[in-house]
Amino acid sequence: MTRPPIVLDCDPGIDDAFALFCALRYCDLRAVTTVSGNVRIEDTTRNALHLLDLTERPDIPVHRGAEVPLEVEPSFAAYVHGPSGLGADPTPAPSRDAEATDAVEALLAHASEEVTLVATGPLTNVALALRADAQTMHRYRHVHWMGGSTTTGNVTDNAEFNAWADPHAVDAVFRSGLPLSMYGLNLTRQVRMAAPHSAALRQAATNSSAKAAAFLEFYEANGEQDGQGQPMHDPCAVLGLTDGARFTTTPSHMVVDTADDSTRGWTRVVDADATDAAPITVVETADAPFLIERIMAAAIAPDGEE
Ligand code: RIB
Ligand code: CA
Repeated sequence: MTRPPIVLDCDPGIDDAFALFCALRYCDLRAVTTVSGNVRIEDTTRNALHLLDLTERPDIPVHRGAEVPLEVEPSFAAYVHGPSGLGADPTPAPSRDAEATDAVEALLAHASEEVTLVATGPLTNVALALRADAQTMHRYRHVHWMGGSTTTGNVTDNAEFNAWADPHAVDAVFRSGLPLSMYGLNLTRQVRMAAPHSAALRQAATNSSAKAAAFLEFYEANGEQDGQGQPMHDPCAVLGLTDGARFTTTPSHMVVDTADDSTRGWTRVVDADATDAAPITVVETADAPFLIERIMAAAIAPDGEE
């Protein structure tokens, strides 16, 4: 199976960790860029470096990104992902530092027609890279973003966390014309893992699966409490590239609310001729059982061969 080349911009984060496992197993992961989101930039960067130690991939560069959103005050989701961002335990000290070049420089350096940018956190780094050099950013083949929602939110009634945390970045990226597929809550809430999966991960007893089990158990206790298991948001944005036939999509036009009020971060489908309407591919449905198998295989053996 050919491994599609990607750059992963993320805010690890428990589901970002599962996305990273999938990126390592099924993609040609060229670089990781980190952004403030679930936890502070120091923590998301340390977590990314630790996860690449855990999976024995210290060859993959990590580039530290934005500390704060474009305009709103920073907000975090440690209530879901734990104080470290990876559950209850402090993250072990990584074996190396992040690269000297920052996330914007890395995003620009890797932009090419063969590379897909997968973003699983707030879009601050992507928006800043567009500000720095939009022409270069348009070299990316495609952008897959886990964020937004065409139905309900998870921070407010309407807004999903990655969109709410930096709505101005979403607005800039939406209106940039970058070819973007949105893996919103409307999609990712279809793909759930729960106690039987964490038990199977423990049973597998690999270095990564033991950690993944602990991550999922923490997520179970602190994530969505609707009794349907935990949505595996971020891996969907990776698997949408490697297993696109397992999803359905609708070409749409969207806007995002940026006013700092009750509708902040609300991503809405609008008519094509609406003000500020941006062409966005909305990912609508997923083959959850298949995708869960892919996520489990990657968490057990991120270095596995297909
Ligand atoms: O709303 C879910 C998204 O916000 C996921 O990417 C999660 O990691 C957080 O970043
Ligand atoms: Ca994330």
